[in-house]
Amino acid sequence: MLRFSGVGAGYGGAQVLFDLDLAVGKGEAVALIGRNGAGKTTTLKTAIGLTRLFAGRVEFDGRDITGAPTHAVARLGLGWVPEDRRVFARLTVWENLDVGRQPPRADAPEWDEARVLAVFPHLKSLLDRPAAHLSGGEQQMLTVARTLMGQPRLLLLDEPSEGIAPKVVEDLAAALADVKAAGVGILLSEQNWRFAAALADRAVLLESGRAVGEGAMADLIAERGRLAAVLGL
Ligand SMILES: Nc1ncnc2c1ncn2[C@@H]1O[C@H](COP(=O)(O)OP(=O)(O)OP(=O)(O)O)[C@@H](O)[C@H]1O
Ligand SMILES: [Mg+2]
Repeated sequence: MLRFSGVGAGYGGAQVLFDLDLAVGKGEAVALIGRNGAGKTTTLKTAIGLTRLFAGRVEFDGRDITGAPTHAVARLGLGWVPEDRRVFARLTVWENLDVGRQPPRADAPEWDEARVLAVFPHLKSLLDRPAAHLSGGEQQMLTVARTLMGQPRLLLLDEPSEGIAPKVVEDLAAALADVKAAGVGILLSEQNWRFAAALADRAVLLESGRAVGEGAMADLIAERGRLAAVLGL
C-alpha cells in the first residue's frame, strides 16, 4: 500500500534519510524503530511530502506520490498523527472530531463518531470538554480519533506512546489493534519496542537515517539483542 524505494530525504541542504526501502501492506502494521534522531519522524514526514526529497520513489496504493503536495497525499487517504499531538485546544472533544470529518471512501472502512467512540470509549465521557483540558494520553487518543474521522486508508503514527501513562498506553494499544483489525494500515515510529510489539507485524530498524535491519516483529523480539542495539538499551 505504501512503498519507499531507495528514498533519500532531508531538510534544505541536509540529507537525513539514505537509500530507504520500506513497504506497508494493506491492513498491515509496520514499526519504525530507532533512537532519538534516527530519522523516524523524517520518514513519516517524507510519506506526506513534508521533507526535501533527494532520491528515490514513494508510492501509495500503486500511485507515484513522490514529491506530491501534502494536501493531495492526505486526500488519497494517508492520515498523519504527528508527535506533538495537534488537538484544537479551544474546541471540545466533539468539535475536534467534527473538524476531522471527511466523506467516506469506497475502498476504506467508514468512520463516524459512534464507531470512533467505540474504539476510544474513554473519550465518551469527555465529549463536551475543551481539548486543552485533556491529559496527554487523552489528547493522543483524540488526535488518532480525529484522524480516523478523515477516513484514512493508512495511518502514520509518530511515537504514539511517548509521554503517556502506562495504563493509557495499554488502552491506546488496544484501540490501535481495533483500528488495524478494521483494515486500516499503520506505519508507526517507536522507541518503545514493547508498544510496537503489541501492534506491529513487522519492523524496520533505523539508525542514522538508514535501515539496518528488518523482520517480523516476533523474530526481532525473540532476538532481543538487535532491538536493544538499535535503541541503545
Ligand atoms: N526541520 C529540520 N531541519 C533540519 N534538520 C532536521 C529537521 N528535523 C529533523 N532534523 C534532523 O534530522 C535527523 C533525524 O530527525 P528525526 O526527527 O527524523 O528523528 P527521530 O527518529 O524522529 O527522533 P526522535 O526520537 O527524537 O523524535 C536529526 O539529526 C535531526 O536533527
Ligand atoms: Mg521523531
